[in-house]
Amino acid sequence: CGIVGVVGKNDATKIILNGLKRLEYRGYDSAGIYVAGSSNHLVKSIGPIKNLEEKLTPSINGTMGIGHTRWATHGKPTESNAHPHTSENGELILVHNGVIENYDALRQSYLSEDIFYGQTDTEIAVHLVALFKKQGLQTKAAFKKALSLIEGSYAFALVDTNDSETIYVAKNKSPLLIGLGENFNVLCSDALAMLDQTSHFVELMDGEMVTLTATDAIIENPAGEVIKRDYYVAELDASDIEKGTYPYYMLKEIDEQPVVMRKIVQKYQTIDGEIAIDQDLLTTLKSSDRVYIVACGTSSHAGWASKKFFETLTHLPVEIHLSSEFGYNMPLLSKKPFFIYLSQSGETADSRQVLVKTNELGHPSLTITNVAGSTLSREATYTLLLHAGPEIAVASTKAYTAQIAVMAVLAKALGTEKGIANAVEFDLFHELGLIATAMETMINEKEHLEELTANYLSATRNAFYIGRGNDYYVSMEAALKLKEISYIQAEGFAAGELKHGTIALIEEGTPVIGIITDAVTGQHTRGNLQEVKSRGANTLVISSEGLAKPDDQILLPTVHPLLTSLLAVVPTQLIAYFATLQRGYDVDKPRNLAKSVTVE
Ligand code: G6P
Repeated sequence: CGIVGVVGKNDATKIILNGLKRLEYRGYDSAGIYVAGSSNHLVKSIGPIKNLEEKLTPSINGTMGIGHTRWATHGKPTESNAHPHTSENGELILVHNGVIENYDALRQSYLSEDIFYGQTDTEIAVHLVALFKKQGLQTKAAFKKALSLIEGSYAFALVDTNDSETIYVAKNKSPLLIGLGENFNVLCSDALAMLDQTSHFVELMDGEMVTLTATDAIIENPAGEVIKRDYYVAELDASDIEKGTYPYYMLKEIDEQPVVMRKIVQKYQTIDGEIAIDQDLLTTLKSSDRVYIVACGTSSHAGWASKKFFETLTHLPVEIHLSSEFGYNMPLLSKKPFFIYLSQSGETADSRQVLVKTNELGHPSLTITNVAGSTLSREATYTLLLHAGPEIAVASTKAYTAQIAVMAVLAKALGTEKGIANAVEFDLFHELGLIATAMETMINEKEHLEELTANYLSATRNAFYIGRGNDYYVSMEAALKLKEISYIQAEGFAAGELKHGTIALIEEGTPVIGIITDAVTGQHTRGNLQEVKSRGANTLVISSEGLAKPDDQILLPTVHPLLTSLLAVVPTQLIAYFATLQRGYDVDKPRNLAKSVTVE
């Protein structure tokens, strides 16, 4: 979900609406806005922000307001479940990101039976504040009292309709920033939303509350002490998040991958051609005996794609774990574990809950993220940035390849530090340059890929990507891309394992795409492709040029064998893109998903 707010500026509706559009990638099941000026307005709508926009007549305007775009957790995406939520007497208006875990218990203890209560966890918050106000507290004190009772994650913005000059804000485990302007202030769950208003942002810590007016942002900790905190200047430019001439962000982001590879080289190379990585991080890693990569979704696939080269270059064993599993089923750890959190957004709640636990256990950690100052970045011992530029499309592309490239930079630096020959001799920056050029070659194959997709995938219900080793790991990511935007049921499978059960799903015409970038395992994968072909599958092969057979449909330029994932994934991203267009779906905003999931 996404939150925005502004106080002290005309055109509040427009500012909030633009902010919500930029946050739409966080959820788009429903949206709502409250604006106050000479009169007060509350408007909600289901579906994407444009549905809300259609309801906003010019008279709906003011100088302050709050807005919300939702990714449903508790309660269906209906208009009544959309935020803002109001107290029974209509006096208090509230938006919320996160999950209030004890909402049922609070409801039973504090709310009388006859208060109307809908389906969401959020409503408890606004009812509690209203209750404490009724009992005699001022709005701020009532809000504070409610906060002291609420357990779970939240970013709240609360408004009292009797006061159009103040927004009360609070944060715990959900992202929220204050943005400072001249005679106005804003709030947002991501700086991106308000970059056209200000570049000066103030971070909030868990448990803090803010009284926001046009001229002040008074931050208080849970003990009620006023906290002074400097703003930071967001480095992003509003133009970084424009689509330009592209029809979809995803296509723009796929195309940006060669530039991102070169940017990573530039950012991580010193003038002398050495690697610029914090020595302290390398020393800590050097003394560790095992690396645990913890991540979700595409980021966990980037972890898998990094395992082989990381182990080869550093001689450190690497395990990859899903955050949502690891936190509650922690395996027996090695004596000196080192944790790497891969997270494009740096805000994923599943990953954050593991980081909180490993911090409690005192283990060192590194967050590799695209967002400087994000929660995971602040809370881990070390941070490395992806420098990929904002990724807006829900289906991750350039963040995946950037994560693998930054992992390679780290592996090279650590292996060199340890004096391991494989690493010392590996000319990584040169190889990444070659990858960038090879990616460009693949990106120029769009027409060919579009045609293959139309022939093989656009009309299918299901599909398989298969491979071995790194090609298997890319297959998992390729299948996820296809699933999340084109809704084709796809599996990324270890090629050799198919025959042990899943081959039963192969029917006449089932598309099976083999990825082959390794000479030895490639031969076996070809055998597995024959097995499915003889059972009716429509096979398609993505292979490295040196290993290609005459009938292979997609040829990858030859790159360093440790880094083939960076390249092999590119045609699969384009296949997912074209399959989605051909099937008539929205590429950037697939159903049921959100870009950044800040609830567990
Ligand atoms: C969401 C997104 C995925 C993403 C995952 C992890 O589910 O839809 O595309 O891979 O979160 O996000 P992170 O920001 O932690 O990399």
